[in-house]
Amino acid sequence: MTTTPERGTPEQPLPYPFPDGHRLDVPPEFAELRATCPVRRVRLPYGGEGWLATRQAEIKTVLGDPRFSRAATVQADVPRTQEWLNPGGDILSLDPPEHARMRRLISGAFSRRNVEAWRPRIEELVGELVAGMRAAGSPVDLVDAFSMPLPITVICEMLGVPAADQHFFQRFSEVVFSGEGVPAEDVEAASEALMSYLAEHVARHRAEPRDDLLSALIAARDEDEGRLSEEELVTLGVTILAAGHETTANAIANSVLTLLVDGLWAELARHPERLDTAVEELLRFIPLGGQESLPRVAAEDVKLGGVVVREGEAVFPAMVSANFDEEVFADPQVLDLRRSHNPHLAFGFGPHFCPGAPLARTEIRVALAALLREFPDLRLAVPRTEVPWRERTALIRGPRHLPVAWHP
Ligand code: HEM
Repeated sequence: MTTTPERGTPEQPLPYPFPDGHRLDVPPEFAELRATCPVRRVRLPYGGEGWLATRQAEIKTVLGDPRFSRAATVQADVPRTQEWLNPGGDILSLDPPEHARMRRLISGAFSRRNVEAWRPRIEELVGELVAGMRAAGSPVDLVDAFSMPLPITVICEMLGVPAADQHFFQRFSEVVFSGEGVPAEDVEAASEALMSYLAEHVARHRAEPRDDLLSALIAARDEDEGRLSEEELVTLGVTILAAGHETTANAIANSVLTLLVDGLWAELARHPERLDTAVEELLRFIPLGGQESLPRVAAEDVKLGGVVVREGEAVFPAMVSANFDEEVFADPQVLDLRRSHNPHLAFGFGPHFCPGAPLARTEIRVALAALLREFPDLRLAVPRTEVPWRERTALIRGPRHLPVAWHP
C-alpha cells in the first residue's frame, strides 16, 4: 500500500523519492505536500530518514541559511538515493567561508561579461550545427546533431580540453549522474576515470600554459599554494566539465520537446520577441533534475515550516516543487511563455547558486533562436511516447535521442 502525503503527521516518514512517471512529469505528491505539510519526514533508499521541503520559502532557507551545511554531508551516511557516500573535495561540498575561496576562482570565467565575449563563438557553433542538420536532411536526431555537441564544444573550449574526447568523458559523466540503483563501485570507478583524465590535462597545461580556464586555475593554485590543493583543482575541472554540458544539453532537448508536444513551437517561431521570457518559463516548468536535490544537514536545531529539524538531520530542498509553488507563481501548472514575474529556482539559490547560469541561458537562447528561425515547422519524427529516454533514475532528465523533422 502506498502512503499519500496528506495522511499522517509531518513526523511520519514517507518513502522518497515518490513513485514517478519518469520523463518530465512532476509527482502530484509535491502539490499535496505544499498545501498540507511543507516540511515532511521522508525515508530514502540509503541512509535512513530526513526531511523534504516543498515550498519555495522553506527551500530558500535551506539553501541560503548558514545553519544548513553541505560540508556535513561529506563521507556521512546521510539519507540519499545513491549508495555511494559523498566523497567531498568539490565546490558543492564546501560551506562558506571556505566555499568562497573556490567560488572566486571560477566566478569571473562564467560572469555575464565573459559569457557575452563568448557569444559570437556560440553563435558560430550553432550556425555550423544547423548547417550540419540541413546537410544531413530531415529527419535528424537533435540530441546527437545539436543539443549535445553545442554545450560540450563550448565548455571544452572554455576549459581547454579537446572536444574530440567527448565520447570518453561523456560515458563516465553519465555514470556519475546515473542516480538511484547504480552500484557505488561503478560510480567511484567512473569518477576516478574523470579525475585521471583531467589530471593529465592539468599536467599538460602546467607544462604549456594557454589562454583558457584550466591554465588560469593552475596559475591561481601555483601562485598561492594555500588556495587550492591539486586534488581540488582537478575536481573543480571535472565538475565544470560535467556540470557544464549534461545540464545545458538536456535543457535544450527538453525545451524543444516540450514546445513541440505542447503545440507552442510555431507560436514562438512567429514571436521571437518572446524568447527571453519563454526560456525562463521553460527553465521553471521543466523538471530537469526530477526529484533529486542535494541534501543539507542542520548544524543546530532549526524551526522550519512548522517542524523542528534537529541538529545533524538532513533536509532535501525540492527545487522542482519550488518552481510550482502556488504562493509564488500564478497558475504554476500552465506553461506561459510570456510569464513576466518568474523567480524560479532552476539554478538554485544562496551561496551555491549556479555560476554557469549566464552561460546556460546564453546557450539555450542562442540555440532556440536559431532552431525556431531555421525550422519554424519543426515536428517530432516519431510519436512522443516513442522518443527514447535516458535512464529513468538519471539525475538529469532528458531524451536519449530526439528525432525531429521539417519540410526541406
Ligand atoms: C540549464 C543548465 C543548468 C542548470 C539547470 C543548472 C543548475 C544548477 C543548480 C540548481 C545548482 C545548485 C545546486 C545546489 O545548490 O544544490 C548548480 C550549481 C552549479 N552549477 Fe549549474 N546548472 C546549469 C548549467 C551549468 C553550467 C553550464 C555550468 C558550468 C559552466 C554549471 C556549473 C555549476 C557549478 C560549478 C555549480 C556548483 C556551484 C557552487 O557550489 O558554488 N552549471 N547548477
